[in-house]
Amino acid sequence: MRRVKFGIVGCGAVSEAHINAVLHSPNSELVAVSDVREEAAKAKADQYNVEAYTDVEEMFDKSGVEAIVVGTPSGTHGEIALKAAEYGIHAIVEKPIDINLEIIDRMIETFRRKNLKLAGVFQRRTYPVYGIVREGLRRGEFGRILLADLYMKFYRKPSYYEKGVWKGTWNMDGGGALMNQGIHGVDLILWLIGEVEEVYGIYSHQARRIEADDTSLAVLKFRSGAMGVIEASTIVNPDRGIKIEIHGEKGTVEIDRDIIVGWYLTHDPEERAIDVQPPISREECESIKRIKYYGHKVLIDDFARAIIEDREPLIPGEEARRAVELIRAIYKSCDERKPIKLPLKH
Ligand SMILES: NC(=O)c1ccc[n+]([C@@H]2O[C@H](COP(=O)([O-])OP(=O)(O)OC[C@H]3O[C@@H](n4cnc5c(N)ncnc54)[C@H](O)[C@@H]3O)[C@@H](O)[C@H]2O)c1
Repeated sequence: MRRVKFGIVGCGAVSEAHINAVLHSPNSELVAVSDVREEAAKAKADQYNVEAYTDVEEMFDKSGVEAIVVGTPSGTHGEIALKAAEYGIHAIVEKPIDINLEIIDRMIETFRRKNLKLAGVFQRRTYPVYGIVREGLRRGEFGRILLADLYMKFYRKPSYYEKGVWKGTWNMDGGGALMNQGIHGVDLILWLIGEVEEVYGIYSHQARRIEADDTSLAVLKFRSGAMGVIEASTIVNPDRGIKIEIHGEKGTVEIDRDIIVGWYLTHDPEERAIDVQPPISREECESIKRIKYYGHKVLIDDFARAIIEDREPLIPGEEARRAVELIRAIYKSCDERKPIKLPLKH
């Protein structure tokens, strides 16, 4: 079987997920790693018996990699991916695919023009629970959707920001709680409910010494007419994870930390919706969460097959752009203190 030769760009915290996913994929082979910090690249290279590079262009030129996984600070994603494209190399890029919409548009256009694959990473999309909820919504199980709320209450210690100097900065992280941690939930709500027409947001940094937000709130109007709220914070102790509550004319679905905790239905709006057995059990949801790097494994194997079969990856660049666009609109609304309409060009 043909295996796509992968190189890892960025040997920091998330790189273990990338390396494990490549090694786990029957369609992939790990050939090289690179990091601007020599010790970081060398440590991973020694551990996995591959070549180490500190100059990413040298890796593109000499190692024979056909595809890269980009796991560097978010503000460097576009530059690295565009450089890869010059060498005819495919790229799967961590969230956010980049922090700047104009750069993302350039990435999408360049990879399409060169017939190269470009994909984003939102590993939660691969958890069966979200696919099942999406199907339920598409089938109209809950009727017309009226409200869709997303709560993301995370905890990042003060030392998280002190050690990771690029985290919570505008020019390298593209924001704080909403852009870095919250983007996973933002992607899910867009995937489940559809496009947003207008947003109004406020943010603050109440408890962490960072440039960007440690807490962001937004009010949304979806194109479908539904309304909703987003809360994203990294100062809630203990961490409460991601909760999604969706309410339609015929019922409600509630997801708490990737598990369906409420599936309520009625056919008669005069009657109270009743709690019924959800189509996926708590045990099934938990068993997926126990598989280490599950989502990264699915996405990287799919990306390799997309290259081999010359088809679209699960999350093409255009899809990965959507969450960044909504987050940029929320930040713009915060800065300008007024509602912002989408689509947004930059
Ligand atoms: N999908 C997820 O759940 C998830 C989880 C964590 C991080 N991430 C994303 O992964 C990215 C990296 O996050 P992290 O926590 O691993 O950061 P990190 O700071 O731990 O690691 C980043 C690494 O990139 C290296 N680097 C910096 N500039 C580089 C360049 N130009 N070329 C090569 N290497 C370079 C740094 O030396 C460092 O080793 C971010 O975009 C983040 O949003 C995603």
